[in-house]
Amino acid sequence: MEAVQDAGVVVTGAGGGIGAALARRFAAEGARVVVNDLDASRAEAVAAEIGATAVPGDASGIVDAAREALGGGIDIWCANAGVAFEDGGTDLDERTWATSWDVNVMAHVRAAQALLPDWLERGTGRFVSTVSAAGLLTMVGAPSYSVTKHGALAFAEWLSLTYRHRGVKVHAICPQGVRTAMLEATGAAGDLVLRPTAIEPDDVADALFKGIAEDRFLILPHPEVADYYRARADQPDRWLAGMNHIQRKWEANR
Ligand SMILES: NC(=O)c1ccc[n+]([C@@H]2O[C@H](COP(=O)([O-])OP(=O)(O)OC[C@H]3O[C@@H](n4cnc5c(N)ncnc54)[C@H](O)[C@@H]3O)[C@@H](O)[C@H]2O)c1
Repeated sequence: MEAVQDAGVVVTGAGGGIGAALARRFAAEGARVVVNDLDASRAEAVAAEIGATAVPGDASGIVDAAREALGGGIDIWCANAGVAFEDGGTDLDERTWATSWDVNVMAHVRAAQALLPDWLERGTGRFVSTVSAAGLLTMVGAPSYSVTKHGALAFAEWLSLTYRHRGVKVHAICPQGVRTAMLEATGAAGDLVLRPTAIEPDDVADALFKGIAEDRFLILPHPEVADYYRARADQPDRWLAGMNHIQRKWEANR
């Protein structure tokens, strides 16, 4: 694919799961890839496997190091690192909320701030946000995840509408369940709403590459999410009643 061949690509949170699948696909398509993760040994293992460079650390602060590793410009930034905390009600502690904001939203904001001056000067750049269907809908039992994924989607939308006439392309990936360590860590809520239709990380990479080829903002690896999103907009109370039905099932099973 022309947009990807020889491009300098950074994937955050790519030591496993969806990020590793994205990094593998970009490398297979001829991109020069930086693999980031908080877990240095996992980032290095994925990088070694695909001939990429590992830049470990917090996704919030690695733009300069990634640029240096690529020997120049960053063409595509995949803001993929994310954290999920389940089984919480409104009693989730402040630290959990702060971590969720920091990783799921502010890391995207900080990366964009560092990338945009170069992208606007060159008139090109691509920002890929791994959001979640929870950013369009919600996730039972996971308030900090639901709220911050809405924030990530809002930021991606804002970025797209603000800079699309200046050459910056944005994609928001919104899957439901994907078979990764994050999905494994979910309990009864994951059993109810994620596991039955879970897909593989490679399916997410397929969906992204299709979306890049079609120049599409919203990437839905589970196409049925479009129907749920429509139903939520058309009839909010009916949709909330349906979600409450799932909530009550979750309460009975946890
Ligand atoms: N698995 C799912 O069902 C699912 C569904 C929708 C969206 N997502 C989103 O996909 C993204 C990837 O998740 P995954 O399912 O592959 O989970 P995962 O747990 O396998 O991978 C997430 C990776 O991010 C890393 N990470 C966490 N905080 C970081 C930070 N501050 N800086 C750098 N790296 C950090 C972790 O070490 C981990 O390797 C997340 O944003 C997640 O919210 C996952």
